[in-house]
Amino acid sequence: MTPHIAAQPGQIAPTVLMPGDPLRAEWAAQTFLDNPECVNRVRGMLGYTGTYKGHPVTIHGSGMGMPSLSIYANELITQYGAKTLIRIGSCGAMQESVGIRDVILAMTASSLSTPSRGIFKELNFAPCADYGLLRAAADVAAGRGVTHHVGGIYSSDVFYDERPDLTEQMTRHGILGVEMEAAELYNLAARHGVRALAVLTVSDHLITHEALPASERERSFGDMVEIALEAAFS
Ligand code: ADE
Repeated sequence: MTPHIAAQPGQIAPTVLMPGDPLRAEWAAQTFLDNPECVNRVRGMLGYTGTYKGHPVTIHGSGMGMPSLSIYANELITQYGAKTLIRIGSCGAMQESVGIRDVILAMTASSLSTPSRGIFKELNFAPCADYGLLRAAADVAAGRGVTHHVGGIYSSDVFYDERPDLTEQMTRHGILGVEMEAAELYNLAARHGVRALAVLTVSDHLITHEALPASERERSFGDMVEIALEAAFS
């Protein structure tokens, strides 16, 4: 047990999917895993462990933002031995060519700052996905006919961004979308020698201002969960 995770040793699988929203962790576990068992509910941050096609999998919330994800990912990796961590979450599109409902596979994650800033200081470390996971996820998405994009994303510290100039520069430099967690997940994975990937569903569009209707969220998010699960075991 850790300060934030009440699971017993052995109750966390080596493969962990991490949605930001704990209720989405519960939904994904109950929808896609066999025999899901709740292994954490400290502070309402739900974690479930079950199996997918016979493979043990944990689906555990990360909370919103990099400081929150950092707590859970650190404990999952260093205390419970997680080896493959896949963020599943939503993002805002930053390119005209990216549509609502599309899936983005984050090859890199740029940021203004992350909780790892104190280590890197003046170094602009380039947080990147595990290539094997990224390639597998792209193959799964293509095989299922899911519209997907592979490239850089931006991990922001704020949802209500007061820097339109920065958004413009991100778009100008080809960044596909914005979310709030992947860069620190990639930093931690690099530090601890484990695999990480962020599989994101576009829920809103920063250029067209479209947004995914609530009624369609479940179906679109389901594609993302299946891509993550299939990629983890391919
Ligand atoms: N997650 C989903 N949409 C987002 C946005 N527009 N900004 C930051 N994180 C997001």
